[in-house]
Amino acid sequence: MKIDILKQLLQAHADGDEPSFRRAAVQLASAESAAGHARVAEDLRAIIAKIPASAPRVAPVVDIASPRGDLSDLLDGGRRDERLTDIILPQQTRTVFERIIRENRSRARLERFNVQPTRRMFFHGPPGCGKTLAAAVLAGELGMALLTVRMDSLFSRFLGATAAHLRTIFSEMPRRPAVYFFDEFDAVAKSRGDAQDVGEMNRVVTAFLQLVDADRSPSVLVAATNHVQIVDRAALRRFDAIVEFDLPDARAIYDLLLLRLAPLGLRPTDAEQLAERGVGHNFADLARACDDSIRTMVLDDREQLRPSDVDAALHRLKTRLISSGR
Ligand SMILES: Nc1ncnc2c1ncn2[C@@H]1O[C@H](COP(=O)(O)OP(=O)(O)O)[C@@H](O)[C@H]1O
Ligand SMILES: [Mg+2]
Repeated sequence: MKIDILKQLLQAHADGDEPSFRRAAVQLASAESAAGHARVAEDLRAIIAKIPASAPRVAPVVDIASPRGDLSDLLDGGRRDERLTDIILPQQTRTVFERIIRENRSRARLERFNVQPTRRMFFHGPPGCGKTLAAAVLAGELGMALLTVRMDSLFSRFLGATAAHLRTIFSEMPRRPAVYFFDEFDAVAKSRGDAQDVGEMNRVVTAFLQLVDADRSPSVLVAATNHVQIVDRAALRRFDAIVEFDLPDARAIYDLLLLRLAPLGLRPTDAEQLAERGVGHNFADLARACDDSIRTMVLDDREQLRPSDVDAALHRLKTRLISSGR
């Protein structure tokens, strides 16, 4: 009897369910009283009286050093300071991002009219083109933590546990507003019906759909994949915005070179010529080439970059002399 109440108490605490927690505590006091333990009951009631009325158990956003229970295994991350100025985006995509950021900053005003900001985004495209960076930019611009779902922990060899892990993550979203990032989302929402372990995968996709549909939290959900073609269509439909991240063209490479290297003296006319040579590489490789050119400058005891430093770095990229680091 009493152990049941204790279980409820602990469960309510684990769920962050304040009303249930209070109810269970009151029940515990009554049980003690019924058992003739008047003093204990009185003590318990005195403690209950001190619980602040209907205080929502919102954990501080930065409190990721000590997530409860399973969460520390499932979610990884913290505050980000990336900004929109740190990422090169096609104008159309930039406009989408600016709009979504403004909407999320205006959440309270939107909710007065019963609408929520756009807060479910799906990123796809080849590796090294800014999907993870864009998730960090969203977090940075919104002053939220970026919490990345740890795929190794999400997938359990125990039947049904993966869906349970998803529920744990979604139940955290209202409690801890943040950008929740499902990288390699294709692993979560593979098209149903063609997997080997069909039963379990179907269960996971179905759980995801139900959880997304029920979620009205202030958190932002971002999913990313390099393989959009294998993602379940019903899962894809759940997202408000689908953004493709593509390999950079000469113009985007020019922007990246100036973003990274103009402070070290790279001139626009030189960047323009160098950009042509970078076509075919992804942003990640090009960013690495920028770093490589800075190393050359430093090793040469210079404070100004020369176009030839960048040129040589791009050449090393072509011949794969810069380790990919991935
Ligand atoms: N669009 C971009 N603008 C500026 N830098 C970029 C961009 N895309 C990638 N990078 C650089 O490459 C790194 C890796 O990119 P990332 O976002 O992890 O790629 P993805 O998640 O698409 O595989 C970033 O940290 C950043 O330094
Ligand atoms: Mg990534």
